[in-house]
Amino acid sequence: MSQQRTKLMFVLPVSLRGGEQAFVRRATAFFGKEPLSQDPVKDYTAKRLKGTKGTYLVERKIGDGSVGAVYKGRRFEDGLAVGDEIAIKIGRKDPAITQRFRAEAFFLTQLSHPSILTCYDYFEDTEATFLVTELLKGAVLSDILKDMRIPIKDAVAMGILILEALEEIHSTGIVHRDLKPDNIFICEDGILKIIDFGVSRIEGGVGFTRTTMGVTMGTPEYMSPEQIASSNVDAKADLYSFGIILYELLTGTVPFKSDDPDEKTRSLMIRTQHIERTPAAVRTLNAAVSKELEAVALRLLSKDKTQRYDSATEVREDLERLRNAGSLESTTDTRPPGRRLLDRLLKR
Ligand SMILES: Nc1ncnc2c1ncn2[C@@H]1O[C@H](COP(=O)(O)OP(=O)(O)O)[C@@H](O)[C@H]1O
Ligand SMILES: [Mg+2]
Repeated sequence: MSQQRTKLMFVLPVSLRGGEQAFVRRATAFFGKEPLSQDPVKDYTAKRLKGTKGTYLVERKIGDGSVGAVYKGRRFEDGLAVGDEIAIKIGRKDPAITQRFRAEAFFLTQLSHPSILTCYDYFEDTEATFLVTELLKGAVLSDILKDMRIPIKDAVAMGILILEALEEIHSTGIVHRDLKPDNIFICEDGILKIIDFGVSRIEGGVGFTRTTMGVTMGTPEYMSPEQIASSNVDAKADLYSFGIILYELLTGTVPFKSDDPDEKTRSLMIRTQHIERTPAAVRTLNAAVSKELEAVALRLLSKDKTQRYDSATEVREDLERLRNAGSLESTTDTRPPGRRLLDRLLKR
């Protein structure tokens, strides 16, 4: 694996730190969001928690998840807050959720990588489960994608960072199983982090995590055909999900979607497409993508997993090869000459 890690400074507009860009405002709004009324977990603001590695002071809520809430806090000692700020993910005391939190704590502590969330502590009491991790500042990729189209070379840089994290995850025998832009965090300092290992499992199904289908499996847009059919999946399921993310980064849209107002019907329609429908070629949606790069995305989306790449490493090497050869963008520029000049002027 390459030791020289690419930072994402160039993906994020330079003024990210200045707070000028729309997505920074969105991120701020996102993190400052009021707790939702249907929050299943009670309000922990200003509460003190006794963990296994220290006492924590909960400060304020910064995010909502499917099974609980995420708070910002600090470690607490002799009446004083010490150390860096931390994040505390709090889940309702429900057997399925507890299992999911235990699994997440287990997996996170198996992994040590700059692009994977670091876990500091895990504990439970009679009312809830608590996962203490590093605090991330920035926005999830899904929020960033709502605000902007990612330039091709930046999409590939992001892809390479995600693949480096997947290489670490898969080398440990773990399958993430919920890879999607909601679970990819872009930090203000240009670091990318994979979060949310709540439905991960050891490849082949070994380990103490059973699929907790009672807990929502989330959006079907990123789910592989084999994952739709069975919960027993291997690392190739993550490669398919990565393929959907790469497709979305390159085209601005996921290949399989539905606008059906009924959630169950919508989900069913998307699942069916994953199994039956061939995705529209990337270049029909973004002609600036090269044929070679399109081929990488489409190969990742093979229905038959044996047709996919064998490993995250193989995909990363292909992307790096294309990037180094300057083959990410199509040489036939379909933009009208005037548009081309304007784009150059605006450096797009
Ligand atoms: N360590 C963290 N630092 C900052 N925000 C976080 C952190 N972990 C999670 N979040 C925020 O909380 C949201 C839900 O967290 P996640 O781990 O994805 O939970 P869930 O399993 O409920 O989806 C994320 O989308 C993110 O916005
Ligand atoms: Mg999540």
